[in-house]
Amino acid sequence: MSADHLVLVGLMGSGKSSVGRRLADALGRPFVDTDHRIERREGRTIRDIFASDGEEAFRDIEATVLVDVLSSTEPAVIATGGGIVTRSDNRDRLAEGRDAGARVVWLRASVDTLAARLTAGASRRPLLDGDVRERLTELDERRRDLYGAVASEVVDVDDRTLDDVVSAVLTATESR
Ligand code: S3P
Repeated sequence: MSADHLVLVGLMGSGKSSVGRRLADALGRPFVDTDHRIERREGRTIRDIFASDGEEAFRDIEATVLVDVLSSTEPAVIATGGGIVTRSDNRDRLAEGRDAGARVVWLRASVDTLAARLTAGASRRPLLDGDVRERLTELDERRRDLYGAVASEVVDVDDRTLDDVVSAVLTATESR
């Protein structure tokens, strides 16, 4: 695994994919999105995987993809799915990477920010079916400490533009 990977973690809607793409451009590195890898590998959407095989089957595939993506020796910017931290094996891998020098950045957002961003685009995300704000509140409560446990840096995204967040991540990770 490359000790120079920059991995983004955080809840759905925190901006991992858009921030990750911009960071990869800025750093001249490949951008990898675990959700896209999963869909490409399976030839079906995440929603379809959840609907036909269930969340645990999705988590199994996600864990395999994480190992695969982290094992690359070429330094990459990696956006992970919001639930990557729910499996302790995944957390161990992220923490090991971080301890070896990789940056694991938690894009931290309030439920208000996430709800405002996701209410319109929830359909891609099976875990947000129903009341989006309620679901996000539950996920935030359950996962907050897990993101904190794997992160080397925390960047708050509330009230920040995409450019600001990208700069904040670059500043936070360069200073290490
Ligand atoms: C999930 C987040 C999604 C995707 C799946 C489950 C989660 O990724 O992996 O719908 O459990 O939070 P994003 O965080 O990229 O939306």
